[in-house]
Amino acid sequence: MTRRIAILTGGGDAPGLNAVIRAVVRTAILRYGWDVLGVRDGFDGFLYPDGIRPLGLEDVAGILPRGGTILGTVNVGKPLMRRTWQAGREVLEDLSPDILARARHLNLDAVLVVGGDGTLRAAAELMVKGLPVIGIPKTIDNDVYGTERTVGFATAVEIAAQALDRLHSTAESLHRVMVMELMGRHAGFLALHAGLAGGADVILIPEIPFHYDVVAEAIVRRARQGRPFSIVAVAEGAYPEGGAPVYQIPDDVRSSPRLGGIGGVVAAELQARTGFTCRWMALGYLQRGGPPNAADRMLATLFGVKAVELAAQGRTGVLVAWRAGRVEPFPLEETARHARRVQPETDPWVQAARAIGICLGDASF
Ligand code: F6P
Repeated sequence: MTRRIAILTGGGDAPGLNAVIRAVVRTAILRYGWDVLGVRDGFDGFLYPDGIRPLGLEDVAGILPRGGTILGTVNVGKPLMRRTWQAGREVLEDLSPDILARARHLNLDAVLVVGGDGTLRAAAELMVKGLPVIGIPKTIDNDVYGTERTVGFATAVEIAAQALDRLHSTAESLHRVMVMELMGRHAGFLALHAGLAGGADVILIPEIPFHYDVVAEAIVRRARQGRPFSIVAVAEGAYPEGGAPVYQIPDDVRSSPRLGGIGGVVAAELQARTGFTCRWMALGYLQRGGPPNAADRMLATLFGVKAVELAAQGRTGVLVAWRAGRVEPFPLEETARHARRVQPETDPWVQAARAIGICLGDASF
């Protein structure tokens, strides 16, 4: 009996999504002879008449190095809820019965959901309602519980580290403090890893609330030691001890709050405290656009192959996870229940940053 699987990508895009799709389609067809269907725009594709199409080998030819996702994705609202506005009031409609009905009608043996924490939580909800899902973790934030690596993270770290390299020469020439705000939402993995790889002098992450006087002191100390410039990598979700994360003003009342702006606040505060000219920038969407690096292409390929192998064994309800150097299944309901964050006491990168004298903004520096 020919099996039939579907694949979708949900949430923000991340470099390497196409590499996952390619690995899934090739493994399913070449090794198992299955049918593969591609679902457009996350779970929404289950709701459009033309939202699902067969994927063949020719559809995935040449997509390995391409950024984004050939399937499209959405990251507004909750994946299983349609948010409409009626007479100025928000009305939420549960879409899961329609998604389940379409999946049943298509006779799917497994639905491979490539997503970050929001999409995977939705997948876990659908799993409880009877959808045979297998999760594949992707996000530049690296904050999916149960896996040490997500597709897209390595590329984002590389892009951000290169950007920090470029800030060095201008900071040094003009004796300035350059503050770079990096993505990551409420997790500091991206800022921590990019800051380490890009030689930042200060790294501020949400898991370690910072003190302005500690950061200012580190910058002044460097100047006294003959280095009158500094590079500060700040995660968008970082905040000072006793303070709160900074959110952007929403575009309109219907938009959800988005983090952003802490870089400017930090630059202004450090300029006032140190007397150095401080400039800031947010690296923004450059962190997730464009081609995946080699590490992400490889991880995406491993994850895609493993997801199809798990489907062949009938093992659904799991996340394909990278754990201690191996790809293995992890219970999806656990992923849905927890958030992954940097653990400052045990994280080896935090310890390494401290050991080489990087200021993390806390009193223990
Ligand atoms: O989750 C990935 C991410 O890139 C976050 O780091 C960032 O806060 C968010 O997406 C931005 O998403 P949006 O496309 O909604 O601005």
